[in-house]
Amino acid sequence: MSSARPSGPFRIGDRVQLTGPKGKLHTTTLRAGGELHTHHGVLRHEQLIGSPDGSVHTNSGGHEYLALRPLLRDFVMSMPRGAAIVYPKDAAMIVTQADIFPGAVVVEAGVGSGALSLSLLRAIGSEGRLHSFERREEFADVAKGNVETFFGEVPETWSVHLGDLAEELENVVEPGTVDRVVLDMLAPWECMETVAEALTPGGVVICYIATATQLSRVAEHIRNLGVFTDPEASETMVRGWHVEGLAVRPDHRMVAHTGFLLTARRLAPGAIAPEVKRRASKTSFSDADVEAWTPGAVGDRQITDKNLRKRVRDAEKHAAAARIAAAANQISEDEN
Ligand SMILES: C[S@@+](CC[C@H](N)C(=O)[O-])C[C@H]1O[C@@H](n2cnc3c(N)ncnc32)[C@H](O)[C@@H]1O
Repeated sequence: MSSARPSGPFRIGDRVQLTGPKGKLHTTTLRAGGELHTHHGVLRHEQLIGSPDGSVHTNSGGHEYLALRPLLRDFVMSMPRGAAIVYPKDAAMIVTQADIFPGAVVVEAGVGSGALSLSLLRAIGSEGRLHSFERREEFADVAKGNVETFFGEVPETWSVHLGDLAEELENVVEPGTVDRVVLDMLAPWECMETVAEALTPGGVVICYIATATQLSRVAEHIRNLGVFTDPEASETMVRGWHVEGLAVRPDHRMVAHTGFLLTARRLAPGAIAPEVKRRASKTSFSDADVEAWTPGAVGDRQITDKNLRKRVRDAEKHAAAARIAAAANQISEDEN
């Protein structure tokens, strides 16, 4: 895996992020005879291969480029997208709040562009298992391309299942065998009974939810099932800071909203959680409200088929380049 151990001198097959004049970023995959052409000149890949991560190289036009391996968060923010991704700040919280541990059996739906899959695959390590479900084949293809590009191969710990989680989960896992379930989809409440069946006692379900209306609906649904602990909701805001000399202040701009997280734990079979005294809900919803929760009404951005086909081609092209580079790297390692 070219990115599995992202350290040491640059090798053929590594993705490298080059910061050039005026801070412009270029990402390239190193290959024998490869070159980065910009209107500032040419930088030969040979200059980088064998040099340390974080080194500076001068191109044919005399311009300097800082070469660094992209971090997972850099890769995620620049990879092809089919569906909206889970941002790195939320992926980090999901790994912690859902307590994704090395060796865990994790179920994820939908796989979308595969951004969250990358963090989950790293967190479960080489002994875990990630089952990712996706009902749109083109999205699954984008995700597979991205995951292969990032790791340099499709990890053995990962399987992608096509179809609706609510229908397919029971065909893939035995009841009570899943440690963690991560849902990033429009209507997580539709899958909650199936998820409850699959989770091991004490297992965690976490939902990443875009709007407050969806948050309330899934929270009430979880409560009504009576087989989970009372769900806990949160959101994560990360505010960057400008720190230079005496000018130390928050950045003027930030990403203010991405999504909410809702976490609950599976009770043991037959267990009834001690009652939490709550007033009769003034917030119950009607069938008409439910009808209002359509993808359009909750702001789910729909991608055109043409656009999506292009993203699939991009993801597959990157994955093919990563495959060729990994093979070339293997040959050059065998020769040495
Ligand atoms: C926002 S995207 C997921 C993004 C992904 N977490 C990432 O970080 O790249 C939501 C995905 O869920 C899929 N989806 C929605 N409901 C589903 C279901 N019941 N079963 C499987 N996939 C589902 C959609 O097709 C869509 O690709």
